Amino acid sequence: LLSLPKERGWASRYLYLFQHFWCPSTHIQGVNDFQKNFQAKPSDVLVASFPKSGTTWLKALTFSIINRKRFSSSENHPLLTSNPHELVPFLDFIFHADNLQQKLSHLSNMSEPRVFGTHVPFPSLSSSIKDSNCKIIYICRNPFDTFVSSWTFFNKIKQDSLHEVTIEEALEKYCKGIIGFGPTWEHMLGYWKESMATPNKVLFLKYEDLKEDINFYVRRVAEFLECPFTEEEESDGVIENIIKLCSFEKMKDLEVNKSGTVGRNVEKKYLFRKGEVGDWVNYFSPAMTEKLSKTMEEKLSGSGLSFKTCS
Ligand code: A3P
Repeated sequence: LLSLPKERGWASRYLYLFQHFWCPSTHIQGVNDFQKNFQAKPSDVLVASFPKSGTTWLKALTFSIINRKRFSSSENHPLLTSNPHELVPFLDFIFHADNLQQKLSHLSNMSEPRVFGTHVPFPSLSSSIKDSNCKIIYICRNPFDTFVSSWTFFNKIKQDSLHEVTIEEALEKYCKGIIGFGPTWEHMLGYWKESMATPNKVLFLKYEDLKEDINFYVRRVAEFLECPFTEEEESDGVIENIIKLCSFEKMKDLEVNKSGTVGRNVEKKYLFRKGEVGDWVNYFSPAMTEKLSKTMEEKLSGSGLSFKTCS
């Protein structure tokens, strides 16, 4: 670690430049172990994302779509009693613990299809994932809202007030790519290019598109996972039930998401803030808007990737 370039991130965490991305100090061991030890199965599904882009939502949707036959009655649905991150664990820190062998045997005994999450950029995924037939669903979000979501989130969870940064300083770092799992653009472009090259392996989604037409994207995800909805399911309202169960309002209101923590001591209630497109206008000055617009233009130009920034 000592030889890697290091920067102070938000929430007073250190970030290390590791395999061309800024890996939070808290994740580096887990990411390393994940790369070395995880054995993908062809039926696995990976929910990949840049942090604060709608991971929780996509995990809930993917879990519900895949398991819709097992939990057809809405009363006993696991999402009513578990947070999406408990049902769809992050591979990035599953391994960061003792008892590696025990973890590996637990993973190999999980019922299939297994669904996992990751924030790791595409080039750093283990070869076992890249080379197997498992599927990857990626979600990203316009960088204005992602930045604000991140900024507000880390302000809530930070433990060390000695390292306060202003929102302008935070944006400065963000535009330089210095944020956990960043640079944001590299992260998005990695999966974007892969989704073009292998569309049956990587499905590329945007938060704004899901907000605009969730019905279409629930079908799209089911088709991509080769489990399309039947006519009977359509007429029985299965799609609508999934949409309702996974909606921001429903998830935020569930008792299970109002208290307690997930992962590395993240309070579940902080995972649900506003859930809107365009909230960034309440945080950005004209100078900040210009700075991020210019950076995006520079980083994304020619890629064909663009974003809606207001609803
Ligand atoms: P805001 O901070 O803009 O409200 P992630 O899950 O990757 O951490 O992303 C968090 C963002 O997704 C937060 O955005 C959060 O409110 C929003 N979110 C969480 N659950 C959602 C849901 N079911 N539907 C839509 N947005 C959701």
